[in-house]
Amino acid sequence: MHRLCTLGDIPDHDARGFRTPEGDIVVARQGMEVFAYRNRCPHIGICLNFQPDVFMDLTGRHLLCSNHGALFRVKDGYCLRGPCSGQSLRKVEVVIENGVIWMPPSAAK
Ligand code: FES
Repeated sequence: MHRLCTLGDIPDHDARGFRTPEGDIVVARQGMEVFAYRNRCPHIGICLNFQPDVFMDLTGRHLLCSNHGALFRVKDGYCLRGPCSGQSLRKVEVVIENGVIWMPPSAAK
């Protein structure tokens, strides 16, 4: 398993980007839960963020594509608004064990 960070490293309602052996991912936290996705917009396949670890809209409720302002639901990656409306970010499996967030091998493929 690939260690990403601790739950406490991601502020609630925020997200962090990670370079993993399986590609770039984004991990968003909501309370004691985390949701992880490939850091790749579904419509043209580029990273969602311009600046490191800037992934959320101003409300902290949605993941944001900095390129086009598309908004994605944190819980399932569904695009609510933007050029990829109706499509979804690709989910990545992560697990939390004793406060540490891990990505199993091949989770992002
Ligand atoms: S790259 Fe697809 S919404 Fe920005």
